[in-house]
Amino acid sequence: MPNAARTDARQSDDVRKPDARPGNPRFSSGPCAKIPGFRLDMLEGAPLGRSHRAALGKDKLKAAIDGTREILGVPDEHRIGIVPASDTGAVEMAMWSLLGARKATMVAWESFGAGWVTDAVKQLKLDAEVVEAAYGQLPDMAALDWNTDVVFTWNGTTSGVRMPDGAAIPADREGLTICDATSAAFAQDLPWDKLDVVTFSWQKVLGGEAAHGMLILSPRAVERLESYTPAWPLPKIFRLTKGGKLNEGIFRGETINTPSMLAVEDYLVALDWARSVGGLEGLMARADANARTVWEFCETRDWIANLAEVPATRSNTSVCLKFTDPRIADGAAFAKAVAKRLEAEGVALDVGAYRDAPAGLRIWCGGTVETADVAALMPWIEWAFHAELAAQAA
Ligand SMILES: Cc1ncc(COP(=O)(O)O)c(C=O)c1O
Repeated sequence: MPNAARTDARQSDDVRKPDARPGNPRFSSGPCAKIPGFRLDMLEGAPLGRSHRAALGKDKLKAAIDGTREILGVPDEHRIGIVPASDTGAVEMAMWSLLGARKATMVAWESFGAGWVTDAVKQLKLDAEVVEAAYGQLPDMAALDWNTDVVFTWNGTTSGVRMPDGAAIPADREGLTICDATSAAFAQDLPWDKLDVVTFSWQKVLGGEAAHGMLILSPRAVERLESYTPAWPLPKIFRLTKGGKLNEGIFRGETINTPSMLAVEDYLVALDWARSVGGLEGLMARADANARTVWEFCETRDWIANLAEVPATRSNTSVCLKFTDPRIADGAAFAKAVAKRLEAEGVALDVGAYRDAPAGLRIWCGGTVETADVAALMPWIEWAFHAELAAQAA
């Protein structure tokens, strides 16, 4: 037995590399891993070189809208539109079209939410209530004034902190809720009765292509659009109404400008895959299993921890981790070096924390990632941590 103990000690001193590698090292938080088994020839059905206004193109765009409704369980009375400029386009279109009718509350707990605060305060120049929390925390959502229009992010991609559920949002609110759900849709249950605007892009949980945003409007949001005209000019790319009425065509697939039919085909393929793994329930279970693998790894180590402080707010998609070992001299340099080692070994690509976020790692755990690959990555994180610590000591 003493020999075995010595061997273990020597192995950790030598920082032995694990034997197994993840089959797919793509753990980027956007664009995210494509569906398992993805091949470019799956997109052969794309009507390339054809008008998106032709019957075939329109059918594809409508199928993207209908498939979104089916898999996300969006109620029939909510409109779903495909809009330009990815999730950013969808959020800004909503903000520019809807805000200003009543006081706004801008809520941020990481970089993207902070970007929407800047939009409201510095660009739209709204006298908004700004509610912020540090990376790792969620503001007290129940304390917000929901009679104002509230803009927030469901899953903070750069801090790994999410809304646990919609309990904090009152059903009888007077304001609109405008929710950036880009890293939550297809991985977390979204309470449609509590959300007046929901946005996301294809490049996140379903591993689709960047380009288009999805804009989902409740009847209350539509009522606002038809009864209120903002004081500022709206570029054509943001205009959701025509003559004071909702432009219904947008919500049937008659996009404002030209979409990429290749990206549309890719989204349709991803939706088919989503059906094959059990739809939303299956997707959520996959993300949960992936995230749990990372959480359990962290819970059994004293040198790494989830950035999200409260367990119920831990993201199951963008899992953000921080190194907590007191021997680390320069946290930012250390985390970068660990991510670099993982990338150099080809076991994890793009897992460094977001540029504005606290130093650490961010492991994407959405449904297109295989749990076996997350499990195979964990010993590599352990290896990279010890290797970097040894390098630092040297
Ligand atoms: C929460 C959140 N909002 C907005 C964006 C911007 O998305 P896009 O680049 O698709 O416009 C991202 C991208 O990572 C995000 O995570």
